[in-house]
Amino acid sequence: MTTSDVASGALPAGLPDPAVLAQLAQQFFAALPGTVGSPLPGPAAGGVPVPPNPQPPGLGLPPGSLGPATPAAIPFGVTPPGLNLAPTSPAAPAHVLASAPARLPHAVAPNGVPDMALSAAPGYDGRQGSHVLGVPAPGGLGLRGAPAPAQSPDAPLYVLGLGRTATPPEPGFYFLPDTAIQRGHARPAVPAAAAEAHPPFDVNAVRRDFPILQERVNGRQLVWFDNAATTQKPQAVIDRLSHFYEHENSNIHRAAHELAARATDAYEGARETVRRFIGAGSVDEIVFVRGTTEAINLVAKSWGAQNIGAGDEIIVSHLEHHANIVPWQQLAAEKGAKIRVIPVDDHGQVRLDEYQKLLSDKTRIVSVTQVSNALGTVVPVQQIVQMARRAGARALVDGAQSVSHMRVDVKALDADFFVFSGHKIFGPTGIGALYARRELLQSMPPWQGGGNMIADVTFEHTVYQGPPARFEAGTGNIADAVGLGAALEYVERLGIENIGRYEHFLLEYATHHLKTIPGLRLIGTAPDKASVLSFVLEGHTTQSVGNAFNEEGIAVRTGHHCAQPILRRFGVEATVRASLAFYNTCAEVDRMVAVLRRLAPRGR
Ligand code: ALA
Repeated sequence: MTTSDVASGALPAGLPDPAVLAQLAQQFFAALPGTVGSPLPGPAAGGVPVPPNPQPPGLGLPPGSLGPATPAAIPFGVTPPGLNLAPTSPAAPAHVLASAPARLPHAVAPNGVPDMALSAAPGYDGRQGSHVLGVPAPGGLGLRGAPAPAQSPDAPLYVLGLGRTATPPEPGFYFLPDTAIQRGHARPAVPAAAAEAHPPFDVNAVRRDFPILQERVNGRQLVWFDNAATTQKPQAVIDRLSHFYEHENSNIHRAAHELAARATDAYEGARETVRRFIGAGSVDEIVFVRGTTEAINLVAKSWGAQNIGAGDEIIVSHLEHHANIVPWQQLAAEKGAKIRVIPVDDHGQVRLDEYQKLLSDKTRIVSVTQVSNALGTVVPVQQIVQMARRAGARALVDGAQSVSHMRVDVKALDADFFVFSGHKIFGPTGIGALYARRELLQSMPPWQGGGNMIADVTFEHTVYQGPPARFEAGTGNIADAVGLGAALEYVERLGIENIGRYEHFLLEYATHHLKTIPGLRLIGTAPDKASVLSFVLEGHTTQSVGNAFNEEGIAVRTGHHCAQPILRRFGVEATVRASLAFYNTCAEVDRMVAVLRRLAPRGR
């Protein structure tokens, strides 16, 4: 097949009729065992035993429902998998090809199923985007009339169709509503904002919003289990960034021209989206920063420098990321203050009784994470903030690992500061937000000086802007702030509660299976956890486990996760960390478990 075949949309000779392919694909999937999206063989064959269809809580399925493995009614507007092979519009002829099943032979999958089966293309038709199909064509598969790049024979295997095909479409229909799929090719004026309610649809449909999930690594379809490090980006975010650079790019707040106005509107619109997303009272309470690390540094260097003195105490928990330790240590060293640490129990949950004992009239600020990046523990931050308040201390909540998993309402939380990073919530890197109550921000000095943050400058004196501009010196990351806004709107469309429920189900599924692996020690077993699984495997370094996963196309993080104190609390220097997001599936967990079974010590 040549580039021009793709661009013209012509079907290459030898490719069967799409209707026939659709029928074959349906027969193939109908013939698969009724597993939880898993074609894995039983334990005798060295595979992973598949539990009877678990039904995640909160799905609202009627009693007796078989759970997510049971195909539900096809939601309105969604084409059942395998039925979308014919083009629905002559305007997108290339998608005839893009929607065709993979024809290329692949390796045998770790679960023993030949990776060669027909891969029905996703249930949305080609109009929804070629990226669905893993074609790395800048600008889309000929969508803008541009030829798709020719692929070198050595290039990673970009397979038209679902790519690695051992896994049938996850049959569960998980409540995820969306018009996020509205990322059509006619470029929207501005990608759609959250507004409408959306019909539910299945996780496969959500996956199709993330082009990179069709990537192949070492011949396998990528499994992205490194979401705590960074999340993948939906097409809506990618499109929004392109739109900004194609139609709006300008510096903000300054020039008297049309693009400056567009860029300013987009940037300030994103600030409003952040405000709404975390429930702040005013956009003046939202400061754009590079990310969580910069936000905490800002607070330490501005509020901290002003309010912390010799003998004062700063409380953090044992779970903290280095970003919530080091800035406080630097401040403490400079001021002669002390760091106090809330201990955790053997499951990795903070000890509130011990915390109570640490609080005193010396406590100036309590700075804690809402979710541990290393263990997944969900920390009772509401209580921690209340207790800090009663002691007359300020409270900062690090939401880097929480915002993508649970609803955050900063007013209800009543923290003085709340910080998060855009890239952990499906937005770009290099952008994040600091929330602080307006009067608090107003009382804080700037921490960096320059343009954008001043009202008036003479050589003798500078008058600063009010917040948030006071804390945004220089030209900020305008486009990525806009991209962050698009990411939050995307999450709003899916519904954060829906996301949380589905991820909880995945976490339970994965935990259940990891516990069956001989020699595997899970680190972080608190009853309340986000979808993070940290573990070590007897007889293997974390690096070697990570390498074995990588060979199978599975991405996890290994190492100390920038949280050395908490790992040392559990007697280890490193773990393997699989961190899941709502676009992950049970079938992907099965692939991870299959590798672990192969590595696990024998005779146990
Ligand atoms: N904080 C990021 C992580 O946990 C980098 O991996």
